[in-house]
Amino acid sequence: MADVINTSLLPFLILFIVSTSAGSTSTTYNVVSLGAKADGRTDSSRAFLSAWSSACASNAAATVFVPKGSYLLRNVVFSGQCKNLVTFQIEGATLVAPSDYGTDSWITFERVSGVKILGGTLDGQGAGLWACKNAGKGCPSGATSLEITNSREILISGLTSTNSQMFHIVIHDCENVKVQGVQVTAPGNSPNTDGIHVEGSSGVTISRATIKTGDDCISIGPGTSNLWIENIGCGPGHGISIGSLGKDKNEQGVQNVTVKTVVFSGTENGVRIKTWARSSQGFVRGVLFEDATMNNARNPIIIDQQYCPHDGDCPNQSSGVKISDVTYRNIKGSSASEIAMNFDCSHTNPCSNIVLDNVDLTYENKVATASCKSADGSATGLVHPASCLA
Ligand SMILES: *[C@@H]1O[C@H](CO)[C@@H](O)[C@H](O)[C@H]1NC(C)=O
Ligand SMILES: *[C@@H]1O[C@H](CO)[C@@H](O)[C@H](O)[C@H]1NC(C)=O
Repeated sequence: MADVINTSLLPFLILFIVSTSAGSTSTTYNVVSLGAKADGRTDSSRAFLSAWSSACASNAAATVFVPKGSYLLRNVVFSGQCKNLVTFQIEGATLVAPSDYGTDSWITFERVSGVKILGGTLDGQGAGLWACKNAGKGCPSGATSLEITNSREILISGLTSTNSQMFHIVIHDCENVKVQGVQVTAPGNSPNTDGIHVEGSSGVTISRATIKTGDDCISIGPGTSNLWIENIGCGPGHGISIGSLGKDKNEQGVQNVTVKTVVFSGTENGVRIKTWARSSQGFVRGVLFEDATMNNARNPIIIDQQYCPHDGDCPNQSSGVKISDVTYRNIKGSSASEIAMNFDCSHTNPCSNIVLDNVDLTYENKVATASCKSADGSATGLVHPASCLA
């Protein structure tokens, strides 16, 4: 290669290299320069999409820069295989959803590889829709605030998501996604406002999140593997849940999940695995729940394989989802109900190799109780309430 470089071209080549490397830190597309209005009322979707297309087509790493202020966005989809890393710099800015509700998702990243979302607040404006749902009227389902789908190499850092109409953040069919320092807030009585939902994805890490919501803080759907969750504050909300799984017969399993260092405060559940009482080929295997503190969680440790909200949905009343190799280590604190440890497994597919290692849960300052159905495993260290595993 060196042989063919004509020395007369060298100054040009050097200039070229210098300008691309400078470009890799300085190619910035400011949404306001492209027409966005920081007034929280003017639809700025076009400016955001145009900043995205330019950044995505850029020959060097590029930044979509959103200055401080509040921006109304309609449903937007950022998609495509970009040439280089694209950073969304949203620190100090708030993106506001329209209050006429959509379905599916509000802000979507689809088929992207190499995107960073830094800072920012997403305001889903869900209150009107929740009121409609809570009144039992016929309401639209509402939109997920942020969905990342069919994508890889994604970082979401320092984002705040508030008052989503439905789920706050969904990671679907992705590989290698890091979610760090995220805050999710919605009222404890807001319906279906799960914090972070992961499904069909591998290599997702969620760390240092504070999640207050009306549904699961984190929910884990079929086809999830190699998931790491660490340093989470959860509550109000329904806890951290693997499931619901096993609604469908042909369903992918969940494996290799670590949930570590979580404080649950006033939640409906702590660490839960939940499956439909229907036939399914699904499974859950290789799960570690470690270092959890329960502050009045209603069901601190629960496996519920009897889920069936409507009569007739579950003719066989038994779950096909096979649950195995689940460890609970250093789980401490208080339960808001007497049964702090409840393994209600499938009678046709019993849970196997459940391991309890240092569990200490109280109910009204006394030792709580445990309940086991179709569950086998072992206990080591101090285990209160005493294990009922076969
Ligand atoms: C399990 O997942 C973690 C990431 O959460 C990963 O580091 C580890 O290699 C995975 N283990 C296996 C056996 O795949
Ligand atoms: C009920 O169980 C039988 C035997 O396992 C199975 O063949 C059938 O598909 C199940 N029915 C439903 C609706 O799950």
